[in-house]
Amino acid sequence: MSGTNERWASRIGLILAVAGNAVGLGNFLRFPAQAINNGGGAFIIPYLVSLVVMGIPLLWVEWAIGRHGGQYGHHSTPGMLDVLGKSRVLKYFGVFGIFTNLVVAAYYSYIESWTLAYTFFSLFDVFNGMNQQEVIQYFKSYLGTGDGFFNFSPVALFFFVVTLGLNLWILSRGISAGIEKASKILMPLLILFGIFLAIRALTLEAGESGAVEDAIAGLNFLWTPQFDSLANPKVWLAAAGQVFFTLSVGMGSIHCYAAYLRKNDDVALNAASAGFMNEFVEVVLGGSIVIPIAVAYLGLASLSAFSGFGMSFMTLPMLFENWGPFLSALGGLAWFGLLFFAGITSSIAMGQPVMAFLQDSFKFTRQKSTVLFGFAVFLLALPTILLYDHGAFDEYD
Ligand code: ALA
Repeated sequence: MSGTNERWASRIGLILAVAGNAVGLGNFLRFPAQAINNGGGAFIIPYLVSLVVMGIPLLWVEWAIGRHGGQYGHHSTPGMLDVLGKSRVLKYFGVFGIFTNLVVAAYYSYIESWTLAYTFFSLFDVFNGMNQQEVIQYFKSYLGTGDGFFNFSPVALFFFVVTLGLNLWILSRGISAGIEKASKILMPLLILFGIFLAIRALTLEAGESGAVEDAIAGLNFLWTPQFDSLANPKVWLAAAGQVFFTLSVGMGSIHCYAAYLRKNDDVALNAASAGFMNEFVEVVLGGSIVIPIAVAYLGLASLSAFSGFGMSFMTLPMLFENWGPFLSALGGLAWFGLLFFAGITSSIAMGQPVMAFLQDSFKFTRQKSTVLFGFAVFLLALPTILLYDHGAFDEYD
């Protein structure tokens, strides 16, 4: 069947799906890393200004273009831009809305698969008793880094294939029975896990469970404004980049979800609700987990040495161990589970525009489009997996 007649089944489902599209690994991994590297409180003002003057208006623009295109049966950017104006070249710009999603999905779903694997590792308490070096070594051997030219581990490949399979399964079920249903289950769970971790993090006090500082010092680092950054273009660029990444604007995936609206469905309020839900998860939850926990255990001075992806996979599992056998397993399960839910609700949003393009333009069935998308992502992801330690992954990022 062509995707043309599909619609969101409910307003809450629509908002959760679009929020799920936006809420992703960027909220929990990228936001804290950007905040740390750009001076904490120095980052927040440019970030909030970029959100208000650029992020939210862009969401409205993309929702409006998407809903308009959907009325003409277009659910991906080439068709939407074609019906937007009289220019015949506009549709070629729309190709970016397919290409970007494909390339990002390829490396993004690989990180997503690490979070799935680490959810299981936490459940089975594999980090119990490991020191920092051992946790780092575990991550490296999980990825299969080594001396050869092509390095990969069968375990990492296995989890990648499972992750891709889950994405394809959701996509193959369509808009309301697949994406909307998954978002209605996964988004509330994600918020629940996030609240649990934020409460645990913020109640850590110096001297308790091995903490060397009050976790609140981490919040102060993020929330004490530093006005001198306002003159630094680098911080503005990083802040604006984060707003783009976190809201998923400029990619074509918001356009695509909005194309499944009905003609008279509201754009202004729905877009703002989904955008603000993303900001709650990013700034309130995302800002209250990694940074406070890291500050509590490692101290403010060492924070920048641990920022980035490494923090989640190579440091946090060891820090959770301070919470005792039960809470450490629960902490790891909540953290990596939350990352996995955040990741998959975003990667399906990267898949849908590609699927919609195949369905609308070539009249492929949903099943055929799913297989083609899966095949393309698998091929594109192979360099990030096999050539990880030659920098292929960073190149994609
Ligand atoms: N918006 C998605 C994220 O933040 C891509 O991860």
